[in-house]
Amino acid sequence: MPSDQPADSISQVRSAYDRWSSHYDTDHNRTRDLDAQIFRTHGPSVRGRAVLELGCGTGKNTELLAATCREVTALDISAGMLAIARERITASHVQFVEQDISAPWPVPSATIDLVVSNLVLEHVQDLRPVYAEAARVLRKGGKLYLSELHPMRQLRGTQARFTDTESGDVVHVPAFHHSVSEFVNTALASGFTLRALGEWLEDDAVPGAPPRILTVYLVRSAS
Ligand SMILES: C[S@@+](CC[C@H](N)C(=O)[O-])C[C@H]1O[C@@H](n2cnc3c(N)ncnc32)[C@H](O)[C@@H]1O
Repeated sequence: MPSDQPADSISQVRSAYDRWSSHYDTDHNRTRDLDAQIFRTHGPSVRGRAVLELGCGTGKNTELLAATCREVTALDISAGMLAIARERITASHVQFVEQDISAPWPVPSATIDLVVSNLVLEHVQDLRPVYAEAARVLRKGGKLYLSELHPMRQLRGTQARFTDTESGDVVHVPAFHHSVSEFVNTALASGFTLRALGEWLEDDAVPGAPPRILTVYLVRSAS
């Protein structure tokens, strides 16, 4: 299924993350840190699995996957982010590929046990090509685990952004709003069933704060 996302927003995302890559890991970023914590403590079971990671970035979650997975293929659109990830993880069962996930993936059909995507889909306008590719590459019964900035946070004005260390500019990475029902209903229409939803907040959040992260755990239907 072709993506309708304008090519210029895709190239803006790519170049923004290329600029961010050298300090993505060291910037203050509560969303990144909470995602890592949830993934470590409540993420999907990965031991012995063939895993495909979408938007691996600098490899913060790839490192965790690599420790127990049988093999990991990690896709990202940003050469800058991938360069850091490749330095961080050199294990031979981990393969990094520069790839726009809104275009068809260079992954054979029905070969993957688990697809994971953390903090990526806010940059993808149309979820349908991503779910369609996930359904294609997963074996029957395979899982899809998504972790995203919670849509309620987006509606309050939060989006991926950073201060460029050279120019001092605040760079807002192009982002698109997807509601919880869109994440779920598009998945159901693409051949998945819902296993679990999660809404997460850091332990020291101010009382009444909206959830920071949404997780969606899906299973590829048998037919
Ligand atoms: C906020 S970072 C998250 C990185 C990593 N998953 C993590 O949790 O730290 C978003 C990543 O998604 C990648 N990305 C955004 N749009 C993409 C697309 N269309 N195709 C592939 N990667 C994309 C960016 O290059 C960036 O590395």
